[in-house]
Amino acid sequence: MCGIIGYLGKNSALPILIDGLKRLEYRGYDSSGVALFLGGEIKTIKSVGRIKELEKRLQTLGVCERADPEGLLCNLGIAHTRWATHGKPTENNAHPHFDCSGKISIVHNGIIENYKSLKEKLEEKGHKFKSQTDTEVIAHLFEDLYNGDLTSTLQKTLKLLHGAYGLVLIHKDHPEKIMAAKMGSPLSIGLGDSEMIIASDISAIIMYTKQVIYLDDGEIAEIEKNNLNIFNIDNVKIEKEAQTVNWDIEEAEKKGFSHFMLKEIFEQPESIMNSIRGRIIEKTGKVKLGGFDSVSKKLRDINRIIITACGTAMHAGLVGEYMLEEYAGIPTEVDYASEFRYRKPIIDKETAILAISQSGETADTLAAIREAKEKNALTLGVVNVVGSTIAREIDVGAYNHIGPEISVASTKAFTSQVAIMVLMTVYLGRQRDMSLIIGQRIIKELLAIPEKIKKILELNDEIKKIAEKYIDAKNFFYLGRKYNNPTALEGALKLKELSYIHAEGLPSGEMKHGSIALIDKNFPSMFICPKDSVYEKNISNMEEVKSRGGRIIAIATEGDEKIKEIADDVIYIPKTLEMLTPILATVPLQLFAYHMAVLKGLDVDKPRNLAKSVTVE
Ligand code: G6P
Repeated sequence: MCGIIGYLGKNSALPILIDGLKRLEYRGYDSSGVALFLGGEIKTIKSVGRIKELEKRLQTLGVCERADPEGLLCNLGIAHTRWATHGKPTENNAHPHFDCSGKISIVHNGIIENYKSLKEKLEEKGHKFKSQTDTEVIAHLFEDLYNGDLTSTLQKTLKLLHGAYGLVLIHKDHPEKIMAAKMGSPLSIGLGDSEMIIASDISAIIMYTKQVIYLDDGEIAEIEKNNLNIFNIDNVKIEKEAQTVNWDIEEAEKKGFSHFMLKEIFEQPESIMNSIRGRIIEKTGKVKLGGFDSVSKKLRDINRIIITACGTAMHAGLVGEYMLEEYAGIPTEVDYASEFRYRKPIIDKETAILAISQSGETADTLAAIREAKEKNALTLGVVNVVGSTIAREIDVGAYNHIGPEISVASTKAFTSQVAIMVLMTVYLGRQRDMSLIIGQRIIKELLAIPEKIKKILELNDEIKKIAEKYIDAKNFFYLGRKYNNPTALEGALKLKELSYIHAEGLPSGEMKHGSIALIDKNFPSMFICPKDSVYEKNISNMEEVKSRGGRIIAIATEGDEKIKEIADDVIYIPKTLEMLTPILATVPLQLFAYHMAVLKGLDVDKPRNLAKSVTVE
């Protein structure tokens, strides 16, 4: 999501920090900031926009990197490039954040789930907050607990935080030290010659040193230019070996994956967790969605939802339709945003319009939302990019919190959008007839999804081999029923986008009404066929294909041996609730499309004719 860089050592910190920020910029760039030790004080400079805006600001203030080739200004600093999660992209919300005294400066990635309650307590004690971020709480909490020793104060501070963090902190009274801590958000330390570089991503480290220590969850580092001590939260010292990293810069940005798409597919266990984190109450089987709470009464009264979106986001909406109707009992329809804006939708005051958009900038989706607002409908959103136009124009929404998606073909955004549809279903369902037990069961299963995705990712090589078998096919059907009808549509879209192979997604039961005429041995079908309420029906449709000589790849539930008798190839996914199967079943389809494109030698991250964000009609 956001990017962190810190430096202390023999050289001037500023050029290294700016260079690091630029390398981290691909992870997010709505604002940035740097804190430096200057004349015994910590000076903080921030700016909204890209890093070059921060550079301009630094130059205006005379803190120019070229003016400091000898490191005269300072040899220690921390910096951050932000991709907003809590609070809009403004200068005040940009990192570094500081405490009341201005002695502590902190940069942070991740989400502090209990920041609101901590903030209230600190405000009662007289702390004054300047931003809307969760991060600022850490600085004030640290100030409140400060005992003169950075390590023990940080340990006490961290014990009070719930959530995820990769954080780096400096203190005016300790101009020789940088503190770092990790829980759920990456942080590494590069060990140079009389210098240390701390970064959330090794792409910002490896041009200075290839010797890197990766911090693990629960570890705290006390960093000086020639010395590094690592402790756990209970002050037990931890010995860690540096690792030699041989990646080049490009490999490092992709974390060693050959494409951003593959990296993003593999990020899904983590990205889904980031979308769920802090939003569920297991005990009461309920969901907290900050924005939604502010209109909870209105939401209780709605009796119809129209979901509007484009492309992959629309497919997530279709999964949402099944969930919202089955579990929240709310009549739901899904419409292409490009159609919604031109038809004459019947909207009354009990209708809510939900826009789903990764970028928050898709012109058709935006126009649909504006149309709905014209008609005085309550507008809701599921958006990934904080502060984007759709995010600003909807009444309330939930952010995905998955960080930037770089690959044009959407992967981690889709599974996150579906995860948020699950959260919305429980939220709205529990306002209505959904029982405590059902709410709890859905939440419990949703929490188990990231581990199950990890198991599917282990099948990557197997899926690649299957792709090799089918690489000559010119056409594909993708077939599924009920919850996995949208999965089939999404799988087909992925194959089309990436490999330029014609693929048609259809409800399995619809295929016999015409499309089946196309089936022959050269026209394979991908069946999404987990053990669910429509399993037997799907099997019958498979038989129809098989008897016409069509080859079949099946996505099936682990333990289903019977399916091997019909399908030519089977990819197994773990068992889960029927409503959650689209999240699991989509992962092998993403990998299959990815490998098909790689095998054809195509530009996976930037397929022809496509744009990541379509801001024209
Ligand atoms: C473009 C992208 C798709 C995406 C769609 C909607 O067509 O290529 O991957 O699903 O826009 O984008 P959004 O940002 O609104 O989710």
